Amino acid sequence: MNSVTVTTSPSLALIKYWGKSSPEQNLPATSSLAVTLDGLETTTTVNHSSADRVFVNQIEADIERYTPFFNHFRRSANTRDRFEARSKANFPVSAGLASSSSGFAALALGCSHLTDPAIPLKSISEFARIGSASAARSLYGGFTVLQKESPYAEPLNIEWPDLRIVIAIVSNEQKSTSSRKAMEISRTTSPYYSKWLEESDLLFTKGLEALSNRDLKMLGPIIQRSYLSMFSTMLTSRPPTLYWLPQSVSLIHFCEHMRRQGIEVWETMDAGPQVKMICLEHKLSEILELLREKFPEIALIVSKPGGSPKL
Ligand code: PMV
Repeated sequence: MNSVTVTTSPSLALIKYWGKSSPEQNLPATSSLAVTLDGLETTTTVNHSSADRVFVNQIEADIERYTPFFNHFRRSANTRDRFEARSKANFPVSAGLASSSSGFAALALGCSHLTDPAIPLKSISEFARIGSASAARSLYGGFTVLQKESPYAEPLNIEWPDLRIVIAIVSNEQKSTSSRKAMEISRTTSPYYSKWLEESDLLFTKGLEALSNRDLKMLGPIIQRSYLSMFSTMLTSRPPTLYWLPQSVSLIHFCEHMRRQGIEVWETMDAGPQVKMICLEHKLSEILELLREKFPEIALIVSKPGGSPKL
């Protein structure tokens, strides 16, 4: 095989991973619970090459970001091959839409299939984690879990077809601080970081129970608590990291407003200004109508659980 093309989807954490137990090995310090977003896609073609090279949306990326992944891959897969990967996404990259999760998952899958199609998915998830821990989860469609300190993610046997995720694109600009850098600053400087680790254990256990019961009334407040606790470590780090923009805050208030009207919708955010809102299918059109009326300038993407990798 000379070339392989794969498609993967980003992994949105409902219960967040933030901080590393081992920065060298990129092992997560908290357990995360996530959904792979159907319809948002990264498509990557991987070829053998004389040197490792990565192109994202036709622009050559700084290879330093990818070197730990390629070196780990070669060691683990027992190969000396080098790779060229060309990747494109149908959504904004490096803007807090988890493009690194689908990006590294696609790269790991592509390199693995090119080297040895029999490499198990669990190992590919582990390779992807070296690039970006959330990428370990993007190797599976639907709901996934990445346990703290675990080298690989696993799929959850949960079906919730009527769950919907509305993504409000507040800004298309690339973020100025990478999640990798921001979480290291949180870990090393925030006085609340140890409290975050403690709380995220509890949120993970409760979140898994609510997700297994497909109970959005129970899950919603846990989703909200998880991202707000995660951001509390960013706001209290030195220097502080603030990914939110004024429109992000307006959307958070608007979700609260919709809930007061009896509409079950819960927001979450990641390392960027975008706001992702979780609801059920039967409330989707009402929520979209209200959002379009209040924020006509903001583009909305609707997704649902899915997004299994395609070869
Ligand atoms: O995997 P990374 O380094 O892109 O970090 C992901 C961090 C969050 O998106 C904020 C949370 C998560 O669990 O995906």
